Amino acid sequence: MSKAQFGMIGLGTMGRNLVLNIADHGFPVCGYDRDTAQQQRLLAEGTGKPVSIATSLQELVNNLEKPAKIMLLVPAGKIVDAVLNDLVPLLQKGDIVIDGGNSHFTDTDRRYTGLQNSGIHFMGMGVSGGEEGARLGPSMMPGSNLQSFNEVRNILESIAAKTDEGPCVTFIGNGAAGHYTKMVHNGIEYAIMQLISEVYGVLKNVGGLTNDELQKTFADWNKTGLQSFLLEITADVFLKKDDRTNNLLVDMVLDKAMQKGTGMWTSQSAMDLNVPIPTIDAAVSMRYLSARKEERVAAAKKYPAGNINIITGKEALSNTCKNALEFGYILSYTQGLDLLQEASKAYNYNVNIAEVLRIWKGGCIIRSAMLNDLRKAYLQEPTLNNIIQSSFFVSRLNGLRKDVTDLCGSAMLAGLPVAAFAATLNYFDAYRSEQLPANLIQAQRDFFGAHTYERIDATGSFHTDWK
Ligand code: 6PG
Repeated sequence: MSKAQFGMIGLGTMGRNLVLNIADHGFPVCGYDRDTAQQQRLLAEGTGKPVSIATSLQELVNNLEKPAKIMLLVPAGKIVDAVLNDLVPLLQKGDIVIDGGNSHFTDTDRRYTGLQNSGIHFMGMGVSGGEEGARLGPSMMPGSNLQSFNEVRNILESIAAKTDEGPCVTFIGNGAAGHYTKMVHNGIEYAIMQLISEVYGVLKNVGGLTNDELQKTFADWNKTGLQSFLLEITADVFLKKDDRTNNLLVDMVLDKAMQKGTGMWTSQSAMDLNVPIPTIDAAVSMRYLSARKEERVAAAKKYPAGNINIITGKEALSNTCKNALEFGYILSYTQGLDLLQEASKAYNYNVNIAEVLRIWKGGCIIRSAMLNDLRKAYLQEPTLNNIIQSSFFVSRLNGLRKDVTDLCGSAMLAGLPVAAFAATLNYFDAYRSEQLPANLIQAQRDFFGAHTYERIDATGSFHTDWK
């Protein structure tokens, strides 16, 4: 039997779908999973395609052309280390191992550094797009080094989603840059999902929109400059009937949002790097709050929200929400990209933001029409540190701000939480404030701790006995 050009370890849905995608592009692939049921599933789904299975890691390595190119799609964390421990001794210099899971960037850094002198290439690669993306074309964010990327470039470019600007894969940058970028992608994903859910809450509870109206509203917005994958699937959610009751399924889903941790990692890393990303932080915290269902139910009895006045003028409210959402989208990307740029400097990733925006245009969960404008801004000004500074966005943000205040006002009066919108508005208002009340904090710090302060009329640091 001729050897395969690519190996896959981990044949869960993502792994199997990627194997089928690679095979569809003419590259023979060999898959391995400890679970024999998964092996059989791949064989069944891969009938007629250049797909084979191995029953051990050794057999997988034996079945591959040299240098071996192997991707791991196994759960992030200890399992990746366990697989690497077993796999690496079977490999030779020049072989390439790609971790395609959502690994924490510090783990990727450790694994990359650990293998650096062995001659075995280790590449941490973010893969976005869920099951469908894996099957039909994901967006991929490989880091490590250009040489390793070039070894697998043709396969990755073949299987990636395609847009008017080419395949949605590029060499992201040094070391763990790929996984860092995927983590930021997910932070933005959390933010946008939270913003959409807050708009849903307002339209439903303040505007009194029915599920049919919500479906139509989101679908209509998706035909405008807000066009995006997350909005598209949101509209579709409102079409799905529950097969156990007569209700729509969305109304039967418990309001506890879970998470695997990538959003939290984004917030943690931003704190480490002193980068403000309050919309993402709010999105993470709101998932935690939503998960405290029992406590919320108890508190709701103690603090009833009162009667919400359903306002008339659904159209005006919808328009407000749409504009506020556009503002929220822009500033979610803004905060994520700011973080990515700062991380790139701090960790020497050398990430090209315009390129990242190009490969996010297709395949990934946060793909949206807006990425074209964001990309233009970075192409014009590659060192742009924050989108709010870009001339491309000034009039747009100025024009949309009022709608965010209106949305927050209506929601807050009705007792509805809009944490992500409020965080976004405050982020923007703080960022555009020439003068913040932080002078008082400096005075307090110097008062109680002699931490010193700077003056507006002289350089240097000063200390005063305030009593
Ligand atoms: C993607 C997604 C994916 C992520 C899920 C679930 O880009 O395809 O980001 O990688 O794992 O969206 O994430 P949470 O369970 O943390 O919501």
